[in-house]
Amino acid sequence: MARLVIVSNRVSVPSSRRVEAGGLTVVLRDGLRRAEGLWFGWSGELTDHPGPAKVTTRGKMSYALLDLKSADYRGYYFGFANGSLWPLFHYRLGLMEWKSEHYRAYRAVNRHFAEELIKLLRPGDQVWVHDYQLIPLGEELRKLGYKGTIGFYLHIPFPSGDVVEVLPAHAELGKALLAYDLIGVQTDRDHHAMLDFLERWGGAKREGADLRYAGHVIRTGVYRAAIDTVGFGKEAATAIGSQDVRSLESSLGGRMLLLGIERLDYSKGLPLRFAAYEQLLAGHQDWLRKVIMLQIAPVSRGELAQYRTLRSDLERATGRIAGRFAAPDWNPIRYVNQPVPRKVVSGYLRLAQVGLVTPLRDGMNLVAKEFVAAQDPDDPGVLVLSRFAGACEELGEGALLVNPLDIERTADAMHEALSMPKDERIDRWQRCMEPLRAWTARTWYDAFVHRLDEISAAKGSLPSAA
Ligand code: G6P
Repeated sequence: MARLVIVSNRVSVPSSRRVEAGGLTVVLRDGLRRAEGLWFGWSGELTDHPGPAKVTTRGKMSYALLDLKSADYRGYYFGFANGSLWPLFHYRLGLMEWKSEHYRAYRAVNRHFAEELIKLLRPGDQVWVHDYQLIPLGEELRKLGYKGTIGFYLHIPFPSGDVVEVLPAHAELGKALLAYDLIGVQTDRDHHAMLDFLERWGGAKREGADLRYAGHVIRTGVYRAAIDTVGFGKEAATAIGSQDVRSLESSLGGRMLLLGIERLDYSKGLPLRFAAYEQLLAGHQDWLRKVIMLQIAPVSRGELAQYRTLRSDLERATGRIAGRFAAPDWNPIRYVNQPVPRKVVSGYLRLAQVGLVTPLRDGMNLVAKEFVAAQDPDDPGVLVLSRFAGACEELGEGALLVNPLDIERTADAMHEALSMPKDERIDRWQRCMEPLRAWTARTWYDAFVHRLDEISAAKGSLPSAA
């Protein structure tokens, strides 16, 4: 078995408090532990004199963490990755910024990653690069002479080529993608958009799901990000009895709970969600005093103006809703900026009667899947889901689908979810669970790595498979 090398901007080292391990992180870590593995990425530290990556080994796997210079990081992470690519790939052209010095920093950091990573690579390694922060990494490794198999997985949507074209560097990014051996995306929609883009703007020749460019074949496929469905369900069933969850429950005083949990990000559609909840209270007054919406939204990327604006918009909306509807003994809305530990989240999700996942655009949205997996099979809650979340391809049969821009329909969906009879809730929940049982985080990981193995074997670069 080849050694797998994962590369991502953030690295979750067990016991490090910096990044709490989410579902995908855990499965990546478990996968790496099964064979020999290396996880390479940013250390979370900024320094004036960054040295080589610091390697720590835990059992069969190692972590190699790289410090970055503050100015490089700003241009790479805040400037290009989150100031240009993130809004663009979420169809928010109006929020996109373009500064060529940010793009240069992005390329420079990717080159630096490649230069440090290649020192640690061994013949036969398979490299799996993650997400939009690192699109050019594969190309940089190739420039340094690395011939082994390199895969890339995009965790965010791939928008229509007409949208990507707006980016002055679109052709360079297309060419960078064509340096990989395998490109994985989240949904069929993303897959079509990516193939179309790489054919029309990247100059690749399409052969089914494969692309041919400069004598090199690039395999592509849909690998839906997923969760440990059974494990998360068990965790939720345990967490429901925990002190934290019981305390939330008793604070509700028997009222029904509508719950949203996500990073404070404009892609998540929070102001529209708040407006829909306000519309629910205004239009369906039977719910006054009987419901509470809890929105947990840990602050994210707070240095960027778009995120600060969002934060103050939500603070205003929270005040407006409370001012309009609250009574001395009832506040209809709770808005929490503090992160909540994952275990507790699983219990909160199980407690909620309604899960609100209404992004304007989302690659997959694992919270939607976690909400479903967390439910009590005998008395499940209802998911209100945006049709613009990737999870919609799997959960569209059982969730109540909304266009988050349609505030009235979203309010009606909240009402429908709160009033839904138990047999319909069970039926919808079962329809949601079916795909989540069939395709889990482990299936996702195995499918991608298996494809890398096949590619390595075909290239003759995997000794054991040759
Ligand atoms: C999204 C991205 C990830 C990113 C995460 C947190 O899920 O796809 O690549 O790590 O958001 O964002 P942050 O900017 O804090 O890393």
